[in-house]
Amino acid sequence: MDNFRSDTFGKLNAADYDAQHDPGTTDATVALIAGLVPAGGAVLELAIGTGRVALPLSQMGFAVSGIEASPEMVAKMRAKPGGDAIPTVIGDMADVDIEGMFDHIFLVFNTLFNLPSQEAQIRCFENVSKHLKPGGTFLIETFVPNFTGFTENQRVKTMQLEVDRLCIEAVTNDPVAQIFAFLRVHITADGMKLVPLPMRYAYPAEIDLMARLAGLRRKHRWGGWDKQDFTADSTFHVSVYEKPFS
Ligand SMILES: C[S@@+](CC[C@H](N)C(=O)[O-])C[C@H]1O[C@@H](n2cnc3c(N)ncnc32)[C@H](O)[C@@H]1O
Repeated sequence: MDNFRSDTFGKLNAADYDAQHDPGTTDATVALIAGLVPAGGAVLELAIGTGRVALPLSQMGFAVSGIEASPEMVAKMRAKPGGDAIPTVIGDMADVDIEGMFDHIFLVFNTLFNLPSQEAQIRCFENVSKHLKPGGTFLIETFVPNFTGFTENQRVKTMQLEVDRLCIEAVTNDPVAQIFAFLRVHITADGMKLVPLPMRYAYPAEIDLMARLAGLRRKHRWGGWDKQDFTADSTFHVSVYEKPFS
């Protein structure tokens, strides 16, 4: 997937992102983040998208800003009530600068893995550390790599099968680069749509190391948004890192 760039996701998905990408955890995500930040605190969302999490936090009185690679996704946020009030820098979260220091930064919905290499992910942690106030926190949500259904580093799964539509997801795994290359194929009477997504995955322990390289210490790890224990059965984790005072 050599042609996949940081703004490709938005070009392909912005039009129907909200309808197609509801994880069903938004209220719990907002509640957990709100509980980590002092009232009215400065909050930055990396890869803010269409404002799914940022908008409710802004409405609760937090001073929310964003970074996002896709102008198309930001245009969708801007079209929503309150969307214009969230200053957002268009750029790559691994490198782009943003004015200000924050009490809390977050990156949810597996989006760390949209950065295509370990190097880019490390730079992202360093960028976060540079913009966190001492004592500030960084929250991250990613899936735990899972190879159920894979044979010879690939799998195909039927996601939707109706009388008038079919969605199939094909995935290949590169265990050296740690990249899942996803391709969703949507077939309807109107034709066929291809939605690719490469994801450079990492286990929680590697993510902890990236945080340490950036001078951040792990404070929490949960196996869900209701602060469930993280166990061998957890399919994803919510982890919080802190920037020490000195
Ligand atoms: C799964 S969506 C998540 C959007 C939003 N955070 C949410 O939870 O609904 C991934 C988002 O990451 C953005 N993105 C991908 N790579 C990026 C990068 N390198 N820098 C900034 N944003 C990026 C995409 O454009 C898209 O808006």
